[in-house]
Amino acid sequence: MPTTLIKNIKRLYGHSDIPMSFKKGEQMKDVNSTGDAYVLFDRQILSFGSMSSCPESADHVIDATNKLVFPAWCDSHTHIVFATSREQEFVMRLNGKTYEEIAKAGGGILQSAQKLRESHFEDLHSSALHRLHEVISMGTGAIEIKSGYGLSFESEVLMLEVIKHLKLHSDASVKSTFLGAHAIPAEYKDNRQEYIRIVTEDMLPYIADKQLADYIDVFCDEGFFTVKETDYILKKGQEYGLKPKIHANELANSGGVQIGISNKAISVDHLERIGEKEIEALKNSSTIPTALPNVSFFLDIPYAPCRQMIDNGLGIALASDYNPGSTPSGNIPLLMAMACHQMKLLPNEAFQAVTINGAYAMEENEKCGSITPGKWANIILTDEIPGLDYFIYHFGQNHVESVWLKGSLQKN
Ligand code: NIG
Ligand code: FE
Repeated sequence: MPTTLIKNIKRLYGHSDIPMSFKKGEQMKDVNSTGDAYVLFDRQILSFGSMSSCPESADHVIDATNKLVFPAWCDSHTHIVFATSREQEFVMRLNGKTYEEIAKAGGGILQSAQKLRESHFEDLHSSALHRLHEVISMGTGAIEIKSGYGLSFESEVLMLEVIKHLKLHSDASVKSTFLGAHAIPAEYKDNRQEYIRIVTEDMLPYIADKQLADYIDVFCDEGFFTVKETDYILKKGQEYGLKPKIHANELANSGGVQIGISNKAISVDHLERIGEKEIEALKNSSTIPTALPNVSFFLDIPYAPCRQMIDNGLGIALASDYNPGSTPSGNIPLLMAMACHQMKLLPNEAFQAVTINGAYAMEENEKCGSITPGKWANIILTDEIPGLDYFIYHFGQNHVESVWLKGSLQKN
């Protein structure tokens, strides 16, 4: 593959010569950066450094005077495969209905499931690919995508096949999560045990056999799956080699965090309604707390207490949760602004949470999340701006000028 040299970079952020560790507590404040820098790459990062040691030539040379370079974002929680948008629920909420009331009345996830069941592979794939390109153009380079709008054997498998196709044919790094336990489908409303049996005894063995998922997830919350059901489903998933990730404590202090930790979940996500007990439990675990500030903004619910978590020594990841119901946005730069304004994170902390820590939250840390020789050349070049603080401060403006994934230019 041809080599590309970006030179005269005003400031290069998030680099490291050696594999970068997960950032916790105070470490989240320290972002490696070098002024007047270069980066050289083919499919992978080859080298970086200050201009005084810049290589003389490359197949493509780009002058980045007054511009910044970041590693591409790692968005560890999304649902970008879906059939239709749900703006009518947005208006219902503006008129006073709650997310839970809409869900109980057959809207929400069940509405998405109904529409998805009427869809075919081609439509689902082309709309998901469109969303993937959309987020890549805003700088996302690694993404986790969940099923969970099928809620039947055929439709869950269909969603996972769409994700597998994206995984095989995109330059983005894609992780796939089986979320059959996203909601009890309408037809099993009075027989939830039978749906849980279908998830664990019919869907799981097939999905594991066809290698359609990397992780298993459950929506452990009031009105969805209980702690006991979640524990059972996660354990079944692990029997089939799927590590847990979990939706926890969005709608209530549901016990989801503790059950995720006891099942050694990679991450527990949402966390809008956690307290001291959950923070203590997370401190004694390797499970990564992942917050989704765009959900809090969009549903007008509390923000996860990320400031408190970091001040308690925890490392956090931030992810978009891009989905039609609670977050119709995969915009990571906007999410970073939200995290700074609403959760009182510092720009450096928000940056770590969507780069290296996001990579750890989907086990992509060996290939993504920092500018490190040997990792994928997943690179963001900004327009002419003073620095990372400004990038987040000037919210709502697109400062991402170019994006390379695996060394190939995605956006210019
Ligand atoms: O992460 N909370 C559960 N699932 C999604 C939203 C699902 C929906 O409303 O479509 C979430 O917010
Ligand atoms: Fe989600």
